[in-house]
Amino acid sequence: MPKITWSEKLEIGIASIDEQHHRIIDLINELQDHIESGGLVLANQTLHTLIEYKTFHCAHEEELLQQAGFPLLKPHKRAHSEYIKECTVFHRRAEQGEYTAHKALAFVKPWMVKHIRGEDMDYAEYVKRHQAGGESPTLPWHLRTLNRLFPNREK
Ligand SMILES: [Fe+2]
Repeated sequence: MPKITWSEKLEIGIASIDEQHHRIIDLINELQDHIESGGLVLANQTLHTLIEYKTFHCAHEEELLQQAGFPLLKPHKRAHSEYIKECTVFHRRAEQGEYTAHKALAFVKPWMVKHIRGEDMDYAEYVKRHQAGGESPTLPWHLRTLNRLFPNREK
């Protein structure tokens, strides 16, 4: 199974976030290495490190979004906590002797790429404009359209 290759397609242009995303991708690739070489104890340790690092990263990201007044912070936070919850379940089950590492990998790998290229890209311009202190930040056009079409949708 090919690993995730870090590339500029995964960069959102905020240094601290890109650096942390890169580290997360490295951990996911490390998890895959351990699974492929049959190192299940190491795989579970890496999964644990991944959960801890991801928890730290999500808190940092959520703080940036809060400081910028990003309007979609709530669903973003929810996506983070669901991801961490899911990973924690895989880890706990592995600790109890179940073979879950491959399922955890199958979950985290596409989730992370989709999240970076989706929800994280969606806040990038907004946060960057806020940080630059220039023009007032706006949501990307597809989110503005959604909000206009469905004014009562959950935010
Ligand atoms: Fe995120």
